[in-house]
Amino acid sequence: MSSKSPRKILVTSALPYANGSIHLGHLVEYIQTDIWVRFQKMRGNTCHYVCADDTHGTPIMLRAEKEGITPEQLIARVWQEHYDDFAAFHVEFDNYGSTNSAENKQCAQDIYRTLKTNGLIEVRSIEQYFDPVKNMFLPDRFIKGECPKCHAKDQYGDNCEVCGAAYAPTDLINPFSAVSGAAPVLRNSDHYFFKLSADTCQQFLREWTRSGALQAEAANKMQEWLGEVGENKLSDWDISRDAPYFGFEIPDAPGKYFYVWLDAPVGYMGSFKQLCAKQTPTPPNLPLSGEEPTAPSPDKGRAGEGFAPLNFDDYWKQGSDTELYHFIGKDILYFHALFWPAMLQHAGFRTPTKLFAHGFLTVNGEKMSKSRGTFITARSYIDHIKNTEYLRYYYAAKLNGSMEDLDLNLEDFVAKVNSDLIGKYINIASRCAGFISKRFDGKVGSEDSSAFELISASAYANNDISEHYEDRDYARALREIMRLADVANQYIAEKQPWALAKQEGKEAELHAVCSTALMLFRDLTLYLKPVLPELAAQVENFLNIAPLTWKDVHSKLPAGHIINSYEHLATRLDPKLIEAMVAANQESLKPMTEAHSQQRHAEAQQHTPSPLAPLPPAGEGNMISPIADTISIDDFSKIDLRVAHIVNAEHVEGAEKLLKLTLDIGEEKPRTVFAGIKSAYDPEKLKGRMTVMVANLAPRKMKFGLSEGMVLAASGEAPGLFVLSPDDGAMPGMRIK
Ligand code: 2FM
Ligand code: ZN
Repeated sequence: MSSKSPRKILVTSALPYANGSIHLGHLVEYIQTDIWVRFQKMRGNTCHYVCADDTHGTPIMLRAEKEGITPEQLIARVWQEHYDDFAAFHVEFDNYGSTNSAENKQCAQDIYRTLKTNGLIEVRSIEQYFDPVKNMFLPDRFIKGECPKCHAKDQYGDNCEVCGAAYAPTDLINPFSAVSGAAPVLRNSDHYFFKLSADTCQQFLREWTRSGALQAEAANKMQEWLGEVGENKLSDWDISRDAPYFGFEIPDAPGKYFYVWLDAPVGYMGSFKQLCAKQTPTPPNLPLSGEEPTAPSPDKGRAGEGFAPLNFDDYWKQGSDTELYHFIGKDILYFHALFWPAMLQHAGFRTPTKLFAHGFLTVNGEKMSKSRGTFITARSYIDHIKNTEYLRYYYAAKLNGSMEDLDLNLEDFVAKVNSDLIGKYINIASRCAGFISKRFDGKVGSEDSSAFELISASAYANNDISEHYEDRDYARALREIMRLADVANQYIAEKQPWALAKQEGKEAELHAVCSTALMLFRDLTLYLKPVLPELAAQVENFLNIAPLTWKDVHSKLPAGHIINSYEHLATRLDPKLIEAMVAANQESLKPMTEAHSQQRHAEAQQHTPSPLAPLPPAGEGNMISPIADTISIDDFSKIDLRVAHIVNAEHVEGAEKLLKLTLDIGEEKPRTVFAGIKSAYDPEKLKGRMTVMVANLAPRKMKFGLSEGMVLAASGEAPGLFVLSPDDGAMPGMRIK
C-alpha cells in the first residue's frame, strides 16, 4: 500500500455477464468492494470505483437470437436491470459501463496492436468442431458427448464431471452440438494467440505472482500453474473466435473476433475512460462514428461539480504511482493473475497493485439451489426483504479478506440483524433521543464527565477499526464496533435515563447521559457507515450533522447543537419475510417462462463449475442431451444400485477433481470410491449423508487407489453436479429398483 496521503486509488469488481440476473452470490463481491471504496472515500483518499457489464461472447449471441432480439438490445436491457439492482443494494459505482463501448474497443485494439508489435501475437491454424446446422464453430462447453474414460453420457467437451477426466472435445464419443443437436464436424481455421509461453511472459509472471500482489493462497496456486523455472507450463492463449461472434473484430483480421475474455478485463480501462470523460467539460462519452453506442450512464455529468479532471494515463501508464485493485471471485484468478498482468505489462501499462480474491456463497451450508429456493436473485431479495442494508451487514460480518467461502445462514441472518443492528445499535438512539427532543428542546448538552473514558475509548477505537477495514477484515471491524455498542448499552442500562426522567432534580444528569449516549451513537454510525450508508444518512439527518467522514472521530456533538426529532430508523427483520422469499424462489413454484441466465463461464477455457453460476435458460429443449437407446428391464436389473452411507469424505492429494469417499452399504467393510465431485462439494458437508451407489461396477484401479463402485450424480447444461440422496428412512444397503 502506498504511504502517500491522500492516496489515489482505482478499484474494480469483476464485470458481470450481460445475460443473467444479479443474485446473492454476485453480491458478495460487489458489497465487499463497495464497503472498501466507501471506507477509502471516508478516509479522504481519492478513490474511483468502476465496473461494467461483460457483454460479448457466444452465450449472449445465442440468447439474443433465442429471444428474437439483437445482442445490443439484450445487453441494453440487462444493463439497466444490473444497474438498478446494484443501486438498490447501495453499490455505488463512479462509472458503470459496458464492454461493448467505443472506449473499450479502442483500448482492446490498442493493447492488441502493441502486443503484436512486440512479437507476442502468433497466428496458427487449429482444428475445431463446427456445427454444420448453425454454421458456427463450437466452444468446448457447447459440445457434449460420452466421456471417453468412464463412458458417462452427456459430458462437456473439456472434462467429465463424473470421473473427473480432462480431455479435448475431439475425444468425446458420439459428440453433439448443444446448440442444434447436430453431430459436429472438424474444420480448420486460423486462430490468433497471445504468446504466454514466451520467455518474457513466463519470467515476468514468475516475478509478479510473487511480488505480494496476490493473497498467499492465490500465489501458491499460481506457482503450481507456472511450474518450476524452465518447465514452461503456460501455453499460448487463444484470443480469437470466428464469426459469427458478438464482440470486437480484430484489427486487420476480417471475420476474426476477440475472445470475450480478452476484452473483458480491458473493460476496467474502458469504464475508467468513460469516467475520465465524464469529469472533463467535453462530452467524449459519445460513440465513435459508425460504432456501437455506449451503454447509458445515468450517473454521468459530474463535470463542474468540484471534481478535478481525471487523467487516464495517471492511473494506467507503466510507472504510475496510483493504486489499482481488482476484487474478483477465486474462480477467475487464472485470467486476472496470468493473462491480464502479462497483457498489461507487455502493452506498456501498469499492472494491478493487488488482486483481492474471495470465495463463493453458500446458503444454509450448501450451494445455492433452485429446488431449495436458495438461488435468490437480487430482485427477489429487494421485493421481499426490501432493506438491502441487512444483507450488507450480514455479509460484512462474515467477510474476512480471505478466499474462504461465505455462508449465508438464513436463521443466523435474522438473528444477527435483530440482535446487533436493532438490539444493540439502533437501541441506543431509540432509548435516549426522545428525551433530548421532549425535555431539552432538541438541544444536545455537555457530555457526562464520568463517561470520559468511555468517550475516549470510542474515538480511540478508530485506529483498529480502520485497519480492519483496510485489510478487508470487515468481520473483525464489526466485532469491534459491536463491542463498543455493548459498552454504550451497558452505560445506558446503568444510568437508566428512563428512571432519571421521573426523578426531580435529575434534569442535568438526564441531559448529560442522553447526550453522551448520542455521541457514542454518532461514533458507531461513523464506523458503520461504509457498510450501512443509507442508515448513516438517516442518522446524519436526525442528528442534523454534515455527512460523516473519518476525521470526525476527533470531534463531538457540541453542547447546544440542535438535533431533529427521532424518527424510527429501522425495524426488526421478520423471519416470515425470509420464508416467503425462499418459497417464491422455489423452482417448482415458478412458471417455466422465467428468464434464467446462462452458465457463468460457458466459454472459459479454465472452466471451474461455480456456485456463483446461474442456471441456463429453462425449457430449452435442445439443451438436454438426447435420451439414450432403449434398454430392457433385464438390462436395467443388471445394475445393482444401493443406498450408501457416506462415512467419510476427504480430498485426495494431487487430484484436481476427485474426492475419496468411504461408503457403508451394510457390508463387513466399507467401500472406497473416488468420485469426480470435488468441484461441487466440500467433503465435510458430505460426511454423514446418504447417497446412491452402483455396487456391482467392476473395481477400477486409479492413480490414487482402487475405486470400488460409483456414486450417482446429476448434471446438465448448467455447471454443477448434484449427488443423489434417497428419502429419509432409507437404510444403508437397501437396493434401488
Ligand atoms: O466470470 C465472470 O462473470 C466474468 N464476466 C468476469 C469478467 S471480469 C473481468 F475480467 F472483466
Ligand atoms: Zn468420465
